[in-house]
Amino acid sequence: MTQVLELDPERPQQKAIELAASIIRNGGLVAFPTETVYGLGADAMNENAVRKIFEAKGRPADNPCIVHVDSRDMLDRVAGSVGDKAEGLIQKFWPGPLTLVLKRKPEVAASVSAGLSTVAVRMPGNRIALELIRAATTPIAGPSANVSGRPSPTTAAHVLDDLGGRIDLVLDGGSTNIGIESTVLDLTAEPPVILRPGWITQEMLSEVIGTVEGVASEEELRRSPGTRHRHYSPRARVILIEQGSAELLERVCREYLKTGSVGFAGHSSVEIDDPEFCALRLGSSAKNYAHSIYAMLRQLDKKNPRVIIIEGISEAGEGAAVMDRLRRAASEG
Ligand code: TXA
Ligand code: MG
Repeated sequence: MTQVLELDPERPQQKAIELAASIIRNGGLVAFPTETVYGLGADAMNENAVRKIFEAKGRPADNPCIVHVDSRDMLDRVAGSVGDKAEGLIQKFWPGPLTLVLKRKPEVAASVSAGLSTVAVRMPGNRIALELIRAATTPIAGPSANVSGRPSPTTAAHVLDDLGGRIDLVLDGGSTNIGIESTVLDLTAEPPVILRPGWITQEMLSEVIGTVEGVASEEELRRSPGTRHRHYSPRARVILIEQGSAELLERVCREYLKTGSVGFAGHSSVEIDDPEFCALRLGSSAKNYAHSIYAMLRQLDKKNPRVIIIEGISEAGEGAAVMDRLRRAASEG
């Protein structure tokens, strides 16, 4: 049985936080909201607890997890050689959607890092998450709280759909603000490399620390094993139309309707009067897309369509991170 507790995101009820913290301290699993997506938390210093995360998610053992801390001090328990660049970025962006890959301390459970000598760490910008970590008095390992390969959860209901019955508790803090996962920046490389684009863009990082490499090369991708696996995907096949007119989108939808039911999510209006067609519309800004796209993929997937067609957005600014997720959702990987 998975317990669900609803919390006020501004003033989380302390009893619920205490209960969740005691589950973490005792080696259990608690899903919690962050400003990006829901995470599946376990004590990052407890090998058995961390293994449960991989079991519950069906996560490949070679995909390392992010460790969540509540303070600059707690960072020192998991990572060493925190240099000037890290300090500058922490000053500017923590708490927030930026994950830093640093040298790992041996006290961190080995499976957190999937055997790597590094550890990915962030301080989430969400009260519930921060108070949970503080009350647990331990860093919390937390990948996104979805079954491996599925779209990340942005509500407690998404978490239950995927992991209900497999985890101890879900802290329900409503739907997450940003909606896509944090930027992952490898600071053990020189110059630093973005392993996963996110809400904190390359330009924002460069302003603080100078040169940052944008697109990870094959070699770098091997060092962020998670990016290799199939990701963010609903069950249905996803087709991404990077850009195109409403007419083009309609033509593609009609073509696929000949083969079965079709789900569509995009900012253009595509109206087709067919019971086999379902369209969800969202604003064309990166902010709107990030906030709603995973929920929409899940919603369309529930109708069991033959294909889901998604309309892309501009790659400018935060749009790059959104397009990264959409391309992965659409890849057969
Ligand atoms: O916003 C987020 O980052 C969310 C919330 C819950 O914090 N978490 C999240 O975790 O998206 P996950 O496990 O779904 O993605 C973690 C990413 C993966 O691409 C993984 O390969 C990479 O971070 N990663 C973790 N540890 C790493 C390490 N030591 N070196 C390189 N990449 C690492
Ligand atoms: Mg994930």
